[in-house]
Amino acid sequence: MPAGLAPSYDADFLRVWRKDPSFLSDPAFVHAYARGMDSGHAIGRPPGSSNDIHIEWRIHVLTWAAWHASRLPGDFVECGVNTGIFSLAVCDYIDFNATGKTFYLFDTYRGIPVEQVSEGEERQGRLIENSAVYFECFERARANFAPFPQARLVRGRVPDTFSEVEVEAVCFLSIDMNIVEPEIAAITHFWPRLVPGAPVVLDDYGWGGYGEQKAAMDDFAARQGAKVLLLPTGQGLMLKPG
Ligand SMILES: C[S@@+](CC[C@H](N)C(=O)[O-])C[C@H]1O[C@@H](n2cnc3c(N)ncnc32)[C@H](O)[C@@H]1O
Repeated sequence: MPAGLAPSYDADFLRVWRKDPSFLSDPAFVHAYARGMDSGHAIGRPPGSSNDIHIEWRIHVLTWAAWHASRLPGDFVECGVNTGIFSLAVCDYIDFNATGKTFYLFDTYRGIPVEQVSEGEERQGRLIENSAVYFECFERARANFAPFPQARLVRGRVPDTFSEVEVEAVCFLSIDMNIVEPEIAAITHFWPRLVPGAPVVLDDYGWGGYGEQKAAMDDFAARQGAKVLLLPTGQGLMLKPG
């Protein structure tokens, strides 16, 4: 690295030089990012502040995926929503109300079901994170998504809640539940419903301490004849082969 060269992005454990993160000054992106980040999540920020965990590049990936998905047939799905940082940013960025689609938002809205946490995940601190970061947030999420009447919050444990709604075709799938059991149940359930070319964004895929997820997703993808792209953000990206 040439001495004195400043990183062009340095946040969320991602430091890069001589790359052009021009999305950071795109007004549509800035507005969408604030919409998500001000959603009241424990890792978010008070409205009006810019003091947050700076996950812009991850949101950039999601808004890009959503923009593409909005041009495909089918509905949007997120499993692991909490107050809606990702999904609110997506709805704002693509003007979700104009898409005519439904956004199915699956979460307990009160944290990870402890009985689904494996011993390995417990050793990696998932239960500590569960009590530190996730709180009862259903009413907050409901208020956050009220401006998007086609956002449908489905409350309860994944995969138990999948039978409560009939989702036929999916063009966008975001999975962020931090543990293997419901994440593999989610990709298994929605994979046959994904339309060709649909993006799947796996938030936890490439992070240190989430090796069980990576191994399980790689194994799932191989069995489907698909491959996960590891992004430097830690996310995994998969496209449904067509
Ligand atoms: C990392 S947070 C999701 C953050 C969210 N993507 C955002 O943009 O703010 C993980 C979420 O997964 C949810 N979750 C974990 N396991 C679940 C399960 N089996 N069923 C439903 N929700 C679950 C938790 O309640 C928590 O809200």
